[in-house]
Amino acid sequence: MNDLDALPAGFRWGAATSAYQIEGAVDEDGRAPSIWDTFSHTPGTIDGGDTGDTACDHYHRWPEDLDLARRLGLDAYRFSIAWPRVVPQADGRINPAGLDFYERLVDGMLERGLTPFPTLYHWDLPQAQQDRGGWPERATAERFAEYAAAVAGRLGDRVTHWGTLNEPLCSSWIGHLEGTMAPGLTDLTAAVRTSYHLHLGHGLAVQALRAAVPGARIGLSNNLSTIEPASSDPADLAAARRADGHINRWWLDPVFGRGYPQDMVELYGVDLPVRDGDLELIGAPLDWIGLNYYFRQVVADDPGAPVPGFRQVAGPNAEHTAMGWEVHAAGLEELLLRLTEEYGATEIHVTESGAAYRDTVTADGRVEDPERTAYLEAHLAACARAAAKGAPVAGHFAWSLLDNFEWAYGYDKRFGLVHVDYGTQRRTVKASGHRYAQLIASHRSAAR
Ligand code: IFM
Repeated sequence: MNDLDALPAGFRWGAATSAYQIEGAVDEDGRAPSIWDTFSHTPGTIDGGDTGDTACDHYHRWPEDLDLARRLGLDAYRFSIAWPRVVPQADGRINPAGLDFYERLVDGMLERGLTPFPTLYHWDLPQAQQDRGGWPERATAERFAEYAAAVAGRLGDRVTHWGTLNEPLCSSWIGHLEGTMAPGLTDLTAAVRTSYHLHLGHGLAVQALRAAVPGARIGLSNNLSTIEPASSDPADLAAARRADGHINRWWLDPVFGRGYPQDMVELYGVDLPVRDGDLELIGAPLDWIGLNYYFRQVVADDPGAPVPGFRQVAGPNAEHTAMGWEVHAAGLEELLLRLTEEYGATEIHVTESGAAYRDTVTADGRVEDPERTAYLEAHLAACARAAAKGAPVAGHFAWSLLDNFEWAYGYDKRFGLVHVDYGTQRRTVKASGHRYAQLIASHRSAAR
């Protein structure tokens, strides 16, 4: 049996990107700065001093990029909409030129037979909202819902699948607690409040989308990890439970209508600013859940580490990507089954899966990336094993369509199926991209 036979007919084959990582054109057509413009222009924040000012110049080159997606045989494209293009300032005024861009992009997808999968928030909060307090404040969640309604009003006649948030863990824990992503804070209270208001913004946006788009299929994407204790020492077992709370349960329980995990609420010791009706909004039923999976975490107790007091240790015989992330495809199967069995998910999209490696272009213009190809095959096989065991895996979006601005790592880390030469903006499909196209074609013909 072919490894991928268990993936259902109608499985959606896609690739993903996000606005700030590829668009460039940061001051065109009324876009105002986001927290990532501010952060990346702050000396010492990004490797090599890189910024997203030009990135892949996708704002101008999107027809070529959608052609590439089509050439790979994708049937869906996950992208994000930049809030600072649509509602650039704090006054709430809609910028029609910002919406025009996404309308052109969506129409371009539909012309090419690609199903649009927009995400409304992939970390680029308008700086004007940050200046008013940002995600630690409830008003930001309300502004987010207004922005969502504006986008839905323009694109809702063409877009069925909607994602609200991408990886709220990163915005909260990395952006407000660890400080290595925008807005660069290291404040537990701000981080916990951010997580709460992101969830509230999600709930309010779901409400706005349902009102504006009959038949909308709505979800959100969380980055989750399998967690293993470094040893059977009770202290490591307890650390693993805390790590699971911090990385997985905090992000899943509330959106599956279970409220926040009490052990973590006590551990953080920060009052959640809950008002009547909030938890119902946050936990309102979704049509799909997105899983972004990259690595597992083997953790040891570390009372000296910041809350929640654990550190990551290398797994036995671990193989790592250029990010230093462990390659562990079995974790994807495990998480898909966990979402199914423990949370009762009824439709799961792997909204990101991929790996950074050091790619080079050969003299005759090829990019051979056998490690990424192996990574892709192993993770797709993990999806198929989970599907065979009953997980409702409905789609897979490779991260990423293009090499792009990898946040604090700048342009040095390349995740694309398509190589980008940032000097010339030339695109070259990597060997892994060709392999993805083959796998898609053979699954599609077997499923007929
Ligand atoms: O590049 C990011 C993306 O923006 C969110 N998920 C993880 C990717 C790789 O780090």
